Amino acid sequence: MSRGRVYLVGAGPGDPDLVTVKGRRLLETADAVLYDHLAPDALLELAPNAERVYVGKKKSEHAYSQEEICAMLIERARRGLTVVRLKGGDPFIFGRGGEELAYLTERGIPVEVVPGITAALGCAAAAGLSLTHRDHAQALTLVTAEGKAGEPALDWPALARPGQMLAIYMGVAAAGRIARRLLDGGLSAETPVAVVENGTLPEQRVAAGTLGRLEQLVAASGTAGPAIIFVGEAARAAHGAAEPQPLALAV
Ligand SMILES: C[S@@+](CC[C@H](N)C(=O)[O-])C[C@H]1O[C@@H](n2cnc3c(N)ncnc32)[C@H](O)[C@@H]1O
Repeated sequence: MSRGRVYLVGAGPGDPDLVTVKGRRLLETADAVLYDHLAPDALLELAPNAERVYVGKKKSEHAYSQEEICAMLIERARRGLTVVRLKGGDPFIFGRGGEELAYLTERGIPVEVVPGITAALGCAAAAGLSLTHRDHAQALTLVTAEGKAGEPALDWPALARPGQMLAIYMGVAAAGRIARRLLDGGLSAETPVAVVENGTLPEQRVAAGTLGRLEQLVAASGTAGPAIIFVGEAARAAHGAAEPQPLALAV
């Protein structure tokens, strides 16, 4: 029996044109595609003849458990199929790609990882926000507001040091807590923040304000889609998208 293979492919931040050439080629030749809710529909259309399985991952709406997803990948690979596991952004950035890679390789399944543009980079580019502008930031930290068991144990005073940029994933529901932690850590209430929702997509919205009013900014903008919170001097430059639907909020 021929051996199948699993490709963990990053779909990019939302705009389907931002997937890699390799990811696109793999989608066009896959036998099966297992995808998350952040994977753009237009990318699935590249695989019209493949078996396409939505495996969920939206918060509180997991269509399958992590174990079930891995079992589905293994079963198909053992049947000799070429399987694309399509994940939003980059598979290894807050995407559990590492867990899937370990699970599959431990069971002897050949796996290849195809990187994608992670949401922080896509959102920053689409909002005109230079994450390491020489005048403002000498470091960039990607942070998740949600750990395996709730709030992650982060070194907030270190994250609050000046001269860096934070890109916070999954932070909208925790905006008040994030702001308090950073203010307690020593960041000024006047530090610029920008919330980029549905980055790189036509529905992209950008809300800009200050750290001291982050919670109000998020509440007033009614952020409902996936969003990245940027914190740091460089966030001051954030503006609407190429297809602008900016939310002109200065809370
Ligand atoms: C489970 S994480 C997956 C991250 C993904 N692996 C990546 O590299 O971008 C989901 C979070 O990524 C962020 N995200 C993903 N796509 C986004 C987009 N188009 N605009 C803004 N934030 C996005 C949001 O913070 C969302 O809650």
